Amino acid sequence: MADFDFDVLVIGAGPGGYVAAIRAAQLGMKVACAESRTTLGGTCLNVGCIPSKALLHASELYAEAQSGALAKLGVKIESMSLDLDTMHGQRKDAVTQLTGGIEYLFKKNKVEWLKGLASFTGKDSVQVGDRTVRVKNIVIATGSSVTPLPGVTVDQKVVVDSTGALELPKVPEHLVVIGGGVIGLELGSVWKRLGAKVTVVEFLDQILPGMDGEVRKEANKIFKKQGMELRLSTKVTGVTVSGDKATLTVEPSAGGAAETIAADAVLVAIGRRANTDGLSLDKAGLTLNQRGQIEIDHDFATAVPGIWAIGDVVPGPMLAHKAEDEGIAVAENIAGLTGIVNHDVIPSVVYTAPEIAGVGLTEEQAKAAGEIKVGKFPMLANSRAKTNHEPDGFVKVIADAKTDKVLGVWMIASVAGSMIAQAAQAMEFGATSEDIAYTCHAHPTHAEAFKEAAMAVTGKPIHI
Ligand code: FAD
Ligand code: NAI
Repeated sequence: MADFDFDVLVIGAGPGGYVAAIRAAQLGMKVACAESRTTLGGTCLNVGCIPSKALLHASELYAEAQSGALAKLGVKIESMSLDLDTMHGQRKDAVTQLTGGIEYLFKKNKVEWLKGLASFTGKDSVQVGDRTVRVKNIVIATGSSVTPLPGVTVDQKVVVDSTGALELPKVPEHLVVIGGGVIGLELGSVWKRLGAKVTVVEFLDQILPGMDGEVRKEANKIFKKQGMELRLSTKVTGVTVSGDKATLTVEPSAGGAAETIAADAVLVAIGRRANTDGLSLDKAGLTLNQRGQIEIDHDFATAVPGIWAIGDVVPGPMLAHKAEDEGIAVAENIAGLTGIVNHDVIPSVVYTAPEIAGVGLTEEQAKAAGEIKVGKFPMLANSRAKTNHEPDGFVKVIADAKTDKVLGVWMIASVAGSMIAQAAQAMEFGATSEDIAYTCHAHPTHAEAFKEAAMAVTGKPIHI
């Protein structure tokens, strides 16, 4: 260790980086983590998962009360109004508490936070602010940021990205969202619930690319029923801002007549791209792939020995839990243990109401790979969902026709985000649909719909 300042330097303190740093310290290594933000936690805790869920939760309660749904349950509210400042306040509190929590964990585990932007000065040396450190192992966990839309300038006032959309100081009359992906639908839902008219302009012929086809169609129906306008197969060719109003020019994706849409706010949410600018990767001898990401092998090792990479900066889904699991695995690999992440079983959740979740193969992917059996069960026939007035959605289990092994599970349900954990665990253990069908599930729970969907794989659910 004599020549090295640290055994491990992690660059970036998002869910990938801070978890890697803590695990490496737990394994007895001397660890530092470079982070240029003024708080730890990365995109997820500061401007992503956490603040968006704070607004999704609060806006869902507001919409429920405002729609008269609570009154139908006998909960009468004589007068109610939106206090957006307080709603933003609790969002900021959640972020402060959780980012502060990571700082506490760093101290507890003796992870040194090197404050500032990190850039390589060699294969084993990195400059952070005015300090240069020599380290045995470097983990790049610099995450991702918003993909810009050419010709559209984000001013964070009228034209915002996801960060600006978390902080709108008033409810826009008409919010136009560019991109019908996860961010567009989650943040579009927040402002729709708070009273905005929301139009989503999506380039493809369906929302939520990458998800199961049937789930995408059903989600489309549900969002439309909720009053969202979905303009599919449509591209935005320009946005002009005049004062506090915007005008979008749109045309069919395949080409055709252009038209304009007036908006009070525009959210650009067309994806995210890896953060590598300023890292001086060339000084470490690293190059990027065509998508601007750092390529790694199964162990999260880059092409340069001693340099590793995880999270949004490497290929794969851009999800916090995927980054976290990679953080643990990479630290274990550095320590000489065997850190593994099963990338075939990474759940994904859209936190709208109802929630949309999936793990494993879509029906389309499974069919292309071989013969399958599919079991489906509607939430309408689930006693708990019905009692709670949550009729929308279904659970679908996709299994191999010969072995019955579960290949994928997809669901739309109020609590799908929690239910999908069971599906992921079953798949991780190599479960068959029969294993799930014969597992006793507590009654009355939404999770029984998962059991019945598994029973439906062999055609024998009870409640439909
Ligand atoms: P990041 O969290 O992006 O962290 C990287 C950190 O590295 C940043 O703090 C950055 O400042 C720092 N950094 C970068 N370059 C340098 C440098 N040169 N020197 C020092 N520091 C540097 N995912 C989910 O799973 N669930 C969700 O509900 C969810 N909601 C989201 C909502 C929104 C609005 C957004 C934008 C994203 C959401 N995500 C969600 C995605 C999730 O935030 C990311 O997948 C996750 O944060 C990736 O973790 P990471 O550690 O790879 O990178
Ligand atoms: P996304 O990739 O989910 O969706 C982007 C959408 O924009 C796609 O449907 C795409 O077809 C569309 N699009 C692209 N260019 C377009 C154009 N010019 N005009 C119209 N539509 C266009 O990306 P999004 O929503 O920005 O989210 C980024 C990432 O953040 C996601 O990949 C996800 O991994 C992560 N995230 C995860 C969340 C969760 O887990 N709940 C929540 C929010 C973000």
